Amino acid sequence: MRNIVVIGAGTMGNGIAHVFAQNGFETTLNDLNEIQLQKAKATILKNLDRQLLKGKVSEELKLKTLGRLQFVTQANRAIKQADLIIEAATENFEIKKKIFNDVMPIAPSHCVFATNTSSISIDKLAVEISQPERLIGMHFFNPVPVMQLVEIIKGEKTTPEVTKKTEELTLKLNKTGVVVNDAPGFISNRILMPMVNEAIEALSQGVAGVKEIDTIMQLGMAHPMGPLRLADLIGLDVCKSILEIMHSGLENDKYAPTPLLVKRVDEGKLGIKSGIGFYNYTIDPKNPTVDFKG
Ligand code: CAA
Repeated sequence: MRNIVVIGAGTMGNGIAHVFAQNGFETTLNDLNEIQLQKAKATILKNLDRQLLKGKVSEELKLKTLGRLQFVTQANRAIKQADLIIEAATENFEIKKKIFNDVMPIAPSHCVFATNTSSISIDKLAVEISQPERLIGMHFFNPVPVMQLVEIIKGEKTTPEVTKKTEELTLKLNKTGVVVNDAPGFISNRILMPMVNEAIEALSQGVAGVKEIDTIMQLGMAHPMGPLRLADLIGLDVCKSILEIMHSGLENDKYAPTPLLVKRVDEGKLGIKSGIGFYNYTIDPKNPTVDFKG
């Protein structure tokens, strides 16, 4: 595998493109929105500079990484030569379905199609596309350049060859791939999201404040950040949508998003990306203040 196309230049898409390019792949990042592409370019540059400062990449590798990246609103030419196309668009079934149905007729016959979905069923998507045997889930974690895991989701129709190629590819990104079967929320979010939801529920019941809940999980359970700060990093809208998919897919009310999470999303308090979630990042993003009055 050499030529990679990443579709969707949001938080996950830019991180995925960054790690592919850094590890030697010719990478095309595609988004319909030119402004989003420019933002992605700036973020990758910022993160490469951060890695440079920490001695994680050399100046030479930084320049090589940037040289391997293309940012395009029209990806047909890259798709025709792609060995892997990874979709990292909005977590919406119809959008993902459309993307695969658009690219599959153009891509070469050996191309692997991966979706960076955090909860949408691979098998459900497979029914709607022409080449289900070449579809696989490659679930990356935020921040992508830092997190070591790729959760690889094989569908019922995914061939063993495609799974093997994806595992090998993950190793080339210096990440660990763990293969799981298809189920709503897979393993990562099946376990993570109920914890995040419960933290928000406990907050809404006044059991403890935002800082207190996060400190308990950080110092008592050695989590790198508390669940409310993590929800802000992931995006409260993303947390809500993953919980909804698990709620309907697993047919169990324990996965229903708690009312305070729904309220925050309705208010546009989506976390870091909107400036405010359970914390306010608008003044000092590194040291945000609590934004919640119980
Ligand atoms: N790009 C490159 N490097 C980055 C980075 C980025 N975007 N963000 C942070 N880093 C690097 C920093 O340079 C730093 O490097 P060193 O260790 O060499 O110093 C390191 O990561 C730690 O960063 P900071 O010192 O700035 O901050 P921190 O120590 O507070 O760590 C964190 C930040 C890495 C985000 C850490 O808090 C963490 O691991 N949090 C948990 C994140 C997590 O659980 N992510 C998964 C979310 S779930 C998901 O994404 C999937 C889903 O489906 C919802």
